[in-house]
Amino acid sequence: MRTFTKTYTDPQLQQRTLAHHRWIAHTNPDVRIPEVVQVRPTAIDFEHLEGHHGTADDLLTLASLLGHQHTTAHTRDLHAARLDASHTSGDVTIAGFADSRRERLHQLLGTGTVPGSALAREAIDGWLERAATMPAAFYKDANPRNFLITDTRVVIIDFDSLTLAPFGYDLAKIVVTTAMTTGPLPEATIRQAVAAYNRHPRQHGLPGCSRREFAAWCEFHHILTTPYHGTNGYQFSWHTIRPAWTIDVLRQFDKESAS
Ligand SMILES: Nc1ncnc2c1ncn2[C@@H]1O[C@H](COP(=O)(O)OP(=O)(O)OP(=O)(O)O)[C@@H](O)[C@H]1O
Ligand SMILES: [Mg+2]
Repeated sequence: MRTFTKTYTDPQLQQRTLAHHRWIAHTNPDVRIPEVVQVRPTAIDFEHLEGHHGTADDLLTLASLLGHQHTTAHTRDLHAARLDASHTSGDVTIAGFADSRRERLHQLLGTGTVPGSALAREAIDGWLERAATMPAAFYKDANPRNFLITDTRVVIIDFDSLTLAPFGYDLAKIVVTTAMTTGPLPEATIRQAVAAYNRHPRQHGLPGCSRREFAAWCEFHHILTTPYHGTNGYQFSWHTIRPAWTIDVLRQFDKESAS
């Protein structure tokens, strides 16, 4: 069998990736992922699968797939998780949403290198606090390069990163990183992507992701992905291409909170 080899210099990171892979296989059994063919001391050989990376044309397909994945994982396992704590399921521990993210967001905002952030540090903390009581889904770094797409299927790859996250958080990641790669997306496409995602949780009586939450999570990704601008194919910065409504709903929220 043809394989794709990923090397890990840190054995702990290698073990963590294998645990994440097992958890995704267990909680999303109908989603295609590469098999682990062999585990070697500093590498994992994955089954090699064909497909192209995500593009703007794939956004609705990927949004719907993420909605399906998150809803299935919530129903099977994450209904028992709280976003402000880590979650253990069998031999897998998934980090809480705020865990290292709060520190990283504060640190990046503190450097003054994030252009045009719509959220200041207090607003970040406010959103992390609100997220603590939201239904739990997960973040698995839904950038366009972590999907392999053919005419007939979508394969999910890259199991290095996995944390708890609110519904809509990884949807915001694919939207922001696709736009950073290919340029501004039509507003209608973004709205349709949110609707395609929300269809899944709402079919199961879960609230899904509001427009305001989606806008906030886009800003989280803007801050966290800014250090990679100019690499990984990221040619555009979210603050120059984001739809105006995402800023409007956050400003409106600030006003309502202050009054
Ligand atoms: N199982 C696989 N079969 C075929 N190609 C793969 C497979 N796994 C990874 N790749 C290819 O290698 C690329 C990098 O793999 P991966 O995403 O796991 O590593 P990475 O360090 O996160 O890289 P990146 O930052 O580009 O996402 C993928 O975008 C994909 O093109
Ligand atoms: Mg990757």
